[in-house]
Amino acid sequence: MPDYDYSVALAASGIVWTPAALRAWMEDNDGFMPGTRMRHVGITDRTVQDFILAYLAHITTRDGSAITK
Ligand code: HEM
Repeated sequence: MPDYDYSVALAASGIVWTPAALRAWMEDNDGFMPGTRMRHVGITDRTVQDFILAYLAHITTRDGSAITK
């Protein structure tokens, strides 16, 4: 998200938010990215992860292509 004040750890990570990276984040974000400001949420249920991935895909794409602005 533009203008969001990410933690130094995340900003320096160069992470690409692939579905696998997002699942790893949801399951163990502070283990996956030591130094993040987000508390551990431990979303391990695969179906819940699927819903969140579908939602994120829905809000970040328009007409099949990524929303850049
Ligand atoms: C119960 C669910 C969640 C809670 C309570 C939560 C809470 C938070 C909080 C408190 C922060 C830190 C805000 C700050 O001080 O800057 C944060 C950051 C963040 N959250 Fe979450 N979050 C949740 C779910 C998620 C999910 C599902 C994702 C992605 C799939 C996500 C991605 C992020 C990212 C990328 C950051 C920035 C972290 C950083 O800059 O190090 N969060 N979240």
